[in-house]
Amino acid sequence: MKETVVSGIRPTGQLHLGNYFGAVTNFVKMQYDYNCYFFIADLHSLTTHPTPQDLHGYVRHVLVEYLACGIDPEQSTIYIQSDVPEVAELYLYLNMNAYMGELERSTSFKDKVRSQPDNVNAGLLTYPTLMAADILIHKAVKVPVGKDQEQHLEMTRTFGNRFNRLYHADYFPEAFAFSYAQQLVKVPGLDGKGKMSKSGGDSNCIYLADSPEAIRKKMSRAVTDGGPTVENQAKPEAIQNLFDLMKIVSSADTLAHFDGLYNQMAIRYGDFKKQLAEDMILFNSPIRERIEELSKDTDYLRKVARHGAEKARESARKTISDVRSLIGFKAF
Ligand code: ADP
Ligand code: TRP
Repeated sequence: MKETVVSGIRPTGQLHLGNYFGAVTNFVKMQYDYNCYFFIADLHSLTTHPTPQDLHGYVRHVLVEYLACGIDPEQSTIYIQSDVPEVAELYLYLNMNAYMGELERSTSFKDKVRSQPDNVNAGLLTYPTLMAADILIHKAVKVPVGKDQEQHLEMTRTFGNRFNRLYHADYFPEAFAFSYAQQLVKVPGLDGKGKMSKSGGDSNCIYLADSPEAIRKKMSRAVTDGGPTVENQAKPEAIQNLFDLMKIVSSADTLAHFDGLYNQMAIRYGDFKKQLAEDMILFNSPIRERIEELSKDTDYLRKVARHGAEKARESARKTISDVRSLIGFKAF
């Protein structure tokens, strides 16, 4: 029996290179060895109140881009979270035994309280219970996510174990973070500080769907500095970030060439960024072309979403039926 894997991404727009190298490539590799459920976390995204017009477009982007990156709907179960109402039902049951204190202590909740004090809703507080429901609904044991999600997984284990204790059943297994790669990659952004993230704005991200022109333009504006002033100087963050990006998309020779120029103080950032842009375009092009094709094929997308929802519900219904009976709901 293959082990079960669950992972989700909140639909908040298009996927960027950070999402690709940090998450989606991992999904693609895992699908052949595990029983994988990859879903689009549209219920989670409601905490930030997307408009009805935006919501569907965001979900569509992620679905198209998952497929374009190589997640195979015959191999894995790809579904949209809101198509599986059993998740919301399990969320309700888990909430009955999730305590205010532990939810308030979650770092992601505390961050939100700080960053958006005028929208501290109950959905944000119970975000970890919904995430636990996503994972427990399929009794998953492995969850491919980044370090920032470690605490949510710990809470998932707490909620699952608590349920088991409460109902004297060895029902939910424990799920742990998992990375296929030995080392988690962190893809830097273009603004000279920190990782590539949508919260840094469009100019900080290279999207999988970006056209060659868009990539050239964004790269030409990527933050650099006045240039090295002594030989073999340590690179400041903005420059190191661009070298890290080059390590991801360019050949080892190209990287060594520009590293040499930097060390000899002979680097011209214009040429460096142009090369990086062209290598990104080479990397992106096949994915972008598939995105363009798939975006036009609504019939296919509908088929994939329905097939995924059916497969996910089959597994979810079984869990909910067991859970209802453990809780003590009985038909008359
Ligand atoms: P964003 O920061 O743009 O809002 P998300 O938080 O929605 O991205 O991330 C979705 C997934 O992509 C998560 O699994 C996260 O770990 C991964 N991810 C996002 N940005 C990066 C990055 N710059 N490097 C590596 N992985 C990333
Ligand atoms: N919280 C995750 C993130 O922000 C997204 C997510 C929701 C998720 N439910 C999940 C990831 C279940 C893995 C499993 O990246």
